[in-house]
Amino acid sequence: MKRMVCLAGLVAGWMVAGCGKPVEQAAPATPAAPRAAKATYTIGMSQCNLGEPWRVQMNADIKAAAEPHPELKVVFKDAQNDTLRQRAHVEEFVSAGVDLIIISPKEAQPLTEPVAKAYQSGIPVIVLDRAVLGDQYTCFIAADNRKIGKAAGEWIKQALGGKGKVVELKGLMTSTPGQDRHAGFLEGIAGSGIEVVFEADMKWLEPDARKEMESALARFDAIDLVYAHNDPGAHGAYLAAKAAGRDSSIRFVGIDALPQEGVAYVAQGILAASFQYPTGGQEAIATALQILKGEPVPKQIVLGSRLFTKASVAAGGEDLP
Ligand code: FRU
Repeated sequence: MKRMVCLAGLVAGWMVAGCGKPVEQAAPATPAAPRAAKATYTIGMSQCNLGEPWRVQMNADIKAAAEPHPELKVVFKDAQNDTLRQRAHVEEFVSAGVDLIIISPKEAQPLTEPVAKAYQSGIPVIVLDRAVLGDQYTCFIAADNRKIGKAAGEWIKQALGGKGKVVELKGLMTSTPGQDRHAGFLEGIAGSGIEVVFEADMKWLEPDARKEMESALARFDAIDLVYAHNDPGAHGAYLAAKAAGRDSSIRFVGIDALPQEGVAYVAQGILAASFQYPTGGQEAIATALQILKGEPVPKQIVLGSRLFTKASVAAGGEDLP
């Protein structure tokens, strides 16, 4: 995502992100706390794991956005997909007295308390991609997962001509993107003849998706399409189908659309579609700079998304309306 212009302070204002696409600012702005100017600011970044390319990209986006600002020092911590470790990381940032925390939490409920405590101690907290519960944080930045799930459901409905047998491989259902991508999908296929014959929580992980798909293939002779909540999940399902000699009769749809991952899979014909889920790394740093300058920021920043299919991949995909 490219440069972002913030019209912060407007209760029903708008933000402009990336491709010039307007992005809605849903909630009232957080009042700016007066902050003493400092020569350098330390930002603690708590990443839930670095096992997936999308998260490596998020950290790279944060690093690249912070680099032109010598006054920013970003300290990265990797929780290695362990919620307790991530809680401890947030607490360590608070004890170290960092100036601001960015967190991409593994799960909503268990990370809510440490985030709220940090926020209440006066440290601004930007929550990125996966949400926490309540409103005890400074700003939440993510694309609209419910909208993406719904668009995926509608696209699948159309691709299958209104009926067919689908496998849904869900992201970790204790994380908000998993919940929202599922709810949105059901909304998208509502009233159609699409039947979800098999669903499983593959926890965002390719090996888990592959295993779950092996079970689905063993149980069902007829599977038309796999909807996976992320591209590693869709790819894992593809590998299972390929090993069973059934990849050419099943279509695979995923979410993330990293250029080197989902977009490449679409270009290679492995995935039928991938919906972009931007990392928000650049927006997190832009927002952090505003907060550190004492400027007001919106409570929520909603990022746009794009759809990549065989038909649109060469042209760089298409905007999700
Ligand atoms: C990476 C990831 C992405 C997904 C996002 C949702 O950990 O699983 O693939 O889009 O998290 O939070």
